[in-house]
Order: sequence, then C-alpha cells, then structure tokens
Amino acid sequence: MAIIAPSLLGCNFLKLQDECDMVNKSEADWFHLDVMDGCFVPNISFGMPIIAKVREATTKPLDVHLMIEEPGRYAADFKLAGADHLIVHYEACPHLHRNIQQIKNLGMKAGVAINPHTPVQFLQDILHDLDIVLIMSVNPGFGGQEFIDHSLLKISILRQRIDEMELKTIIEVDGGITLANAPAIIEAGAHSLVIGTSIFKSPDPVNLIKQLKHI
Ligand code: DX5
Ligand code: ZN
Repeated sequence: MAIIAPSLLGCNFLKLQDECDMVNKSEADWFHLDVMDGCFVPNISFGMPIIAKVREATTKPLDVHLMIEEPGRYAADFKLAGADHLIVHYEACPHLHRNIQQIKNLGMKAGVAINPHTPVQFLQDILHDLDIVLIMSVNPGFGGQEFIDHSLLKISILRQRIDEMELKTIIEVDGGITLANAPAIIEAGAHSLVIGTSIFKSPDPVNLIKQLKHI
C-alpha cells in the first residue's frame, strides 16, 4: 500500500478549510505542500502563512517540498510553521550535506528532490542520510503536467540501491500521477505518490484517494 500525499497546489484556495477537511477524512497519509520562489522555478506559490494555516487544520504530517534557492535560510521558519518533512532540491544546494544535517537537527525528516535530468546515482554519497528521495516526474514549477515515462527507470534503479543498502529511505514520486499510471509507478518501486490535479479536480476525491490507496 503506497503512501498517498495530495498536493494542495491543485486545490481551490478559496476553500482551503474544505479541501483540508476532505484530505483529513480520506485515506490520504500526508499533505504535500509546494513552495516556489520564482527563482529556482519559474512560478511563485505560497509560503509559511499558508503552511501554518494547514497545520491548524490537520494532524496528518506536512510534507513540504521547497522549490527555492538557499533553503537553509528558511529551514527554521518552516519548522515553526509546522513542517514535518522538509525536502530541498539537489540542484539548489551546493552544500547539500549541511542542509540535510540542519533539517534533521531542527527535528524534521529530511528529503532531497531531483529534477528529471538529474541521475539518481548523484545521491549515492548522501543516500544513507536521507529519509526521503523525491523523484520529480515533471519539471518542477507547475501542476497539471504530463508524467515523464523515463522516471520509471530512475525509480527502479533507486529502489534497487536502497534495498541493497538495507535503508529505510522513502522513494516519493511527484508530478503527473493518475489512477491510470499509479500502478506502474508503485511496481517500479515507489513508496509514496504526490498527486495534485487528479485528486483535486476529481468529482469524488475521497473515493479516488481510496482507489489509489488500495492499488
Ligand atoms: C510540481 C509540484 C507538484 C505538483 C503535482 O512542481 O512539485 O507537487 O503539485 O501536481 P500534479 O499532480 O498536478 O502533477
Ligand atoms: Zn511537489
């Protein structure tokens, strides 16, 4: 059974409380929150005030995906806002080891996201320190894009490595996931699925989450 992490980027922000209530009553495991700075990615989303409000609306873990430059400047603020997991981008962090230690020292689970062009092998010397690897299956910055099929190969290579090393690292996959392609993504070795558009544009999101959960 995969971990299901609805991405609030796809929700109706005028009805944030209702959207949180829907996720709360569903079988979803985590809330996925996409923070974009307009520099690392060509889009701006939301920051700490929204995360703090979602924190008030749920007891489920908040999985915060930082698509920002210099994430170390804000790690403590995201902890204060209520983040449980903090995921930084490999491509934004020349001092990745330091960033990961900082996140762990703040008491959060630490993750690294990799863009579609970044080989999973680049994580070899940090993998044992990571709670989560987030494989981007679209180019980060926008919801509603199409799943890049090459991601399946990356997932299976990483899963094999994690199993060989007997690590507990969670492989999370983010972007373009639907009920139709989710089985192949899980089959390739993913533990956690981030899903925005498919869930929040569904006429019956609670039921869709149930179907995803029981693949
Ligand atoms: C994209 C974000 C994703 C996005 C996924 O940059 O990281 O979390 O919300 O949305 P869908 O499911 O619409 O691809
Ligand atoms: Zn994301």
